[in-house]
Amino acid sequence: MRLLFLGPPGAGKGTQAKMIAEEFGLLHIAPGDIFRQEVKAGTELGHLVEGIMAEGRLVPDDITIQIIEKRLNSPEARNGFVLDGFPRNLAQAQALKDMLERKGERLDLVIDLVVPEEELLKRSMSRRVCAKCGKPYNLNLDPPEVEGRCDVCGGELIVRDDDKEDTIKERFRVYHEETEPLREYYAKCGILVSVDGCGDIDSVCDKIKMCLLDKGLIREAKDR
Ligand code: AP5
Repeated sequence: MRLLFLGPPGAGKGTQAKMIAEEFGLLHIAPGDIFRQEVKAGTELGHLVEGIMAEGRLVPDDITIQIIEKRLNSPEARNGFVLDGFPRNLAQAQALKDMLERKGERLDLVIDLVVPEEELLKRSMSRRVCAKCGKPYNLNLDPPEVEGRCDVCGGELIVRDDDKEDTIKERFRVYHEETEPLREYYAKCGILVSVDGCGDIDSVCDKIKMCLLDKGLIREAKDR
């Protein structure tokens, strides 16, 4: 299965992509996670992307495309993959099409998570991450046992740099301008499905699995 999750910041792409990847043995590829790891490790790439991400802008296409192509060509991607946050503009979508074509592959399904903007803002503003081990929390959904401290390592829980209100609004603006046109692009390719991303995490995941079932990508009895 070769899947792609589309949707605005806070729609639940990361949450759902990880669950689907784990359940069906697919490689989860999320450029946002890759960039955050580089920032944490203090690499050259990390220094380059840190400011861009904190401002809510997109990392340049050439850098992002190169990173994704490397992941897609890795042995772990052989059983299939779930893309989460790539592509984010038409140039990246064309690059993805070209790189898959070179391997004789194509996307099976693009899942567009639809959530109203006020709910998106609420979700992103209640997210916290552990400064030490990176474990994510959401103060509304899964708060830590001790306020401000990670349940796993005791590290301090902080707000992601790009989850500050002004940056979230800039990420929405970039989404509407650059990423939203991909809905039409993939609809024209005939592989877009829109899924209501509201409701609890498991119920959204069930709706996604129903789409996979409808498209014949999973078999109910064996895979669900
Ligand atoms: P990235 O990490 O991809 O951020 P994003 O797309 O803005 O996504 P988010 O992580 O905010 O939201 P999500 O939809 O994944 O939702 P999540 O599951 O986390 O990108 C960050 C930055 O990296 C970009 O701004 C850019 O600078 C750079 N970048 C990344 N990709 C790039 C690319 N292709 N090109 C160039 N630059 C790129 O959930 C959000 C919150 O909501 C969580 O707290 C979660 O617990 C909660 N939640 C999830 N589901 C539910 C639910 N059903 N009900 C209630 N709460 C929920």
